[in-house]
Amino acid sequence: MSTSAPPANPAGPLPEGEQAWIEVIRKMDEVYNDLLQYEVALEEKNSALEESHQFIESVLASMSDILIVCDRHGRIEEVNPSLCRVTGKSAGDLEKTPLGELFADADGRRQAEDLFRHGGHEGVHDRELFLRAGDGSSVPVSMNCTPRISQTGKLMGMVVTGRPVGELRRAYQALRQAHEDLKRTQGQLLHAEKMVSLGRLVAGVAHELNNPISFVLGNVLSLRRYADRLQAYLNAVHAAPAADPGLAALRAELRIDRVLADMTPLIDGMIEGAERTRDIVDALKRFSAVDKATPERVDLNEVVERSVRWVTQSAPARFAVAVDLPPGLRCPGSSGQLQQVVMNLVQNACDATAAQPAGHLTVTGAVAGGMVELCFADDGPGIAPEHLGRLFEPFFTTKPVGQGTGLGLSISYGIVDRHGGRLAAANRPGGGAEFILSLPLESS
Ligand SMILES: Nc1ncnc2c1ncn2[C@@H]1O[C@H](COP(=O)(O)OP(=O)(O)OP(=O)(O)O)[C@@H](O)[C@H]1O
Ligand SMILES: [Mg+2]
Repeated sequence: MSTSAPPANPAGPLPEGEQAWIEVIRKMDEVYNDLLQYEVALEEKNSALEESHQFIESVLASMSDILIVCDRHGRIEEVNPSLCRVTGKSAGDLEKTPLGELFADADGRRQAEDLFRHGGHEGVHDRELFLRAGDGSSVPVSMNCTPRISQTGKLMGMVVTGRPVGELRRAYQALRQAHEDLKRTQGQLLHAEKMVSLGRLVAGVAHELNNPISFVLGNVLSLRRYADRLQAYLNAVHAAPAADPGLAALRAELRIDRVLADMTPLIDGMIEGAERTRDIVDALKRFSAVDKATPERVDLNEVVERSVRWVTQSAPARFAVAVDLPPGLRCPGSSGQLQQVVMNLVQNACDATAAQPAGHLTVTGAVAGGMVELCFADDGPGIAPEHLGRLFEPFFTTKPVGQGTGLGLSISYGIVDRHGGRLAAANRPGGGAEFILSLPLESS
């Protein structure tokens, strides 16, 4: 529509009616102009609004964090595409559903409802909750919640944001695993180094003790023979009828009869001590590989069966051993030495369960990568964590004096090492100790 005021009449003033019309038309013109300007301004504002809407939409769409806007009652009003991706639902499906329904299980839902009931007023920071993903799995999300307040200060609802932490957690777990592996390898290296130095030290000590103990034992055995002869001679002297009376007084004064009576037990005690020392030196030599046996073909099934039979024969009836091994386990080495290893493991399990009404040891085996792994698992009290690193040290024992030399495991370690295998100890998750004996299988 286009209007314009008629030109002024030069012939004189217009009649009153016409003047009024002209006024109306002028006003309409002004209103129309204003309308046009409003329309232009409105269009400009509209396009600015459209632009900022698109901007916000694009920001929300590119966010990897999830965003949820809720009303006062915890019902969802708006979500961003990230939440739709996680839950596998469209924004339309999620609208008006209670916030709690996003969580993985009933417990998580209750937790979330409690949290957000308070969070609506006070806010929630970095709380880890599990959302239910589209495929039914749980997605760990670190959540924050802030109250949404109107201009008049009224609580309108809340804004919940969350960061899926699954990736982060997986990366953290991988890092922790790598760290644990590294620590374990470092521990094994240190342990191997310690055992090598110990082996050298013990070999030196065993070598030094070997000679003196051999001649102490040899001499003391000769002494026993001489003592018997001296005793026989003295008895003959004392029994002689022409014995000097001074001799009888000296015999009483020096208490020769008591000395003679003490001689045999004293010498027997010396022999016993010397023999025990010789056995220890022999054990030390075995630990440090001073004695080297020529390898033979060892039937491990037989070695285990025989060792178990020998130990259980002299063990109380409360101790039971179950053996479950795959057949035909053969390895190169010395069956005598390997039997010593197995017997010590079985005996240790028997001793460890001594205070229980019943003790059980299970021996199982598995073959993998050219090695056989025998596992000795008992239901005893297990090994104190501070002892785990010391078990294979010579003379480490927790048994009372006279009941254990503490050489069993250290000798076994040396034997297994020389067989190209490994002996390791651990505590079982369900209680009890576990010894793993790995040995290289005979190559066919
Ligand atoms: N199955 C087990 N359960 C709990 N602790 C064990 C077990 N086996 C070994 N130990 C611990 O390891 C220590 C060392 O064992 P090791 O066989 O070397 O010596 P020992 O048995 O004490 O003495 P020895 O074997 O010379 O008679 C034991 O004293 C015990 O504390
Ligand atoms: Mg032992």
